[in-house]
Amino acid sequence: MTSSTPTASFVIVANRLPVDRVQGPDGAEVWRRSPGGLVAALEPVMQAVDGAWVGWAGQSDLELKPFVEDGILLLPVTLSAQEVEEYYEGFANDTIWPLYHDVIAPPQFHREWWDAYVRVNRRFAERAARAVSQGGTVWVHDYQLQLVPAFLRELRPDLTIGYFHHIPFPAHGLYAQLPWRDQVLQGLLGADVVGFQRAQDATNFLAAVRRRLRLEVKGSTVSVPWGGPRTTVARAFPISIDTTPYTELAARPDVRARAAEIREGLGNPRKILLGVDRLDYTKGIRHRIKAFGELLDQARLSVEDVTLVQVASPSRERVDAYVQLRDEIELAVARINGDRDTMEHTAIRYLHQGFPREEMVALYLAADVMLVTALRDGMNLVAKEYVAARGDHRGVLVLSEFTGAADELRQAILVNPHDIDGLKDAIMQAVEMPPREQARRMRALRKRVLENDVNAWSRDFLAALENVRSAR
Ligand code: G6P
Repeated sequence: MTSSTPTASFVIVANRLPVDRVQGPDGAEVWRRSPGGLVAALEPVMQAVDGAWVGWAGQSDLELKPFVEDGILLLPVTLSAQEVEEYYEGFANDTIWPLYHDVIAPPQFHREWWDAYVRVNRRFAERAARAVSQGGTVWVHDYQLQLVPAFLRELRPDLTIGYFHHIPFPAHGLYAQLPWRDQVLQGLLGADVVGFQRAQDATNFLAAVRRRLRLEVKGSTVSVPWGGPRTTVARAFPISIDTTPYTELAARPDVRARAAEIREGLGNPRKILLGVDRLDYTKGIRHRIKAFGELLDQARLSVEDVTLVQVASPSRERVDAYVQLRDEIELAVARINGDRDTMEHTAIRYLHQGFPREEMVALYLAADVMLVTALRDGMNLVAKEYVAARGDHRGVLVLSEFTGAADELRQAILVNPHDIDGLKDAIMQAVEMPPREQARRMRALRKRVLENDVNAWSRDFLAALENVRSAR
C-alpha cells in the first residue's frame, strides 16, 4: 500500500469514472459530472462512509493522480490506446456486449482481446485493493469488469465484495459460445453478492454456474469451494433513476415553456412521437423507423399530424457494428424524410447528439408518445425518466417486452419490436389513446417508478451485502 493513497472503507469500481473530461468555455479541459444515475445514487452513500471511485477517464494514455471531485475521491486507471482497442472496444463492446444481448450482432472472439481484458481487469482490481481499508466493502459494476471480483478476493480476502451487472445475462445456449465461459463465471463468483436487473438474468447465470462449473446451487445461493469455502448470492435488484430532478424540472415553468417551444418548432403537429437512445443496435431504432415509415406510406399517419423526434446520442463510434448501424439509420431517415417532408413539416427530426437533462425533460413533456423498442436491454432507464417527468399524467409509453423495465412497467403498451405490424398497431393505439386512459396508465406507472427509485435500489443491494458480512 503506497503512503500517498488514502484508504477508503467503501470503494466503487466501474469502467468509467463518474466525471467526464470535457472542453470548458475557455478551451481548457475540465471535469464535468457524468449524467448517469449511478453517481447520483451512490453519492449519499459515498459521502456518508468516506468512499472512493476507481475508473477510467475515457481517454487513452491519460496518467492522472487521484483527485477529489464533488466530495468523492477519484482513483483513475490508465489505459493505453491498444488497451482501449482490445479491452474496451474489443472484448467489452464487440464480444461481451453483442453476446449478452442475445447475439443481435455477431460477437467477435479474439484471444488477444481476452488477454487485454484479463490484464485490464487485474489492473482495476489492484487499484481497488490498494485503496480499500481493512475489512472494507468494494462494489464492482458491469460487464467490462467481470473478472475483478475474483482478482480482488485473491488480493484481499478480508473484503466484502459486491458486483452489479447492468446488462442482460444470456441463456446458457448462447453463453456457451464464449471460449472463456468458465473463467468469466469464476471471476463473478469472487463476489459475495452478484446482482442482476431481472430474475431471468439471475436464473440464466445460476444455470450456467450449475452446468459449467458443477457447483451446488440452492435457491439463489451458490456454494463456492475455492478460496473458502464460501457462498455467493445471485439475484435481481432492478435498477432505477433518481426521480427528483425529473419531477422537479418537469414542474418548472421555464421547462414547460421550452416544451411548448419545441412543439412550435416542429410545426405544432397533433402528436409528437419520441425515441431517445444511445445509437446502439440493441435499441431497435431501425424497427421503430420502419414501422413509422410504413404508417406514413399507408396514410394511417401523415406528416401534418405526426412527427417522430429521434435523439440518438453518439456511442462507441470506432466499433464496426456501430459505424454500420449509423449508416443504415441515417439512410432510412433520409429516405423517409425525402419522400414525406413538406416545407412546413418533417417526418423524422433526427438528432445525433446528446442533450442536457433540462432539454430532455422539455422533450419528454412535448412528447405524446415515448417509443422504447429495444430488441434486448438490461433495464432501459429512458422509459423510467419519461414516466418520472409526466407528473401531468399525460403521454403514452410504448415499451418493448425485451427490456428489463417491462418486468415492472406493466401498464405501458408492451410490444414485440420484431413484429412490425404489431408495432404499427401499438403506435396507432398510443396516438389515439383518450386522455382518461393515458392518465389511468400513467398514474400506475408513476407509482411504480417513484416508489422504486435508485436510492431504494442501492439500499437493497447494500443491505444484501451487509447480510453477508454479518453472517460471517
Ligand atoms: C451501458 C452500460 C454501461 C456503459 C454505458 C455507456 O449502459 O451498461 O456500463 O457505461 O452503456 O457506454 P460506454 O461504452 O460509453 O461507457
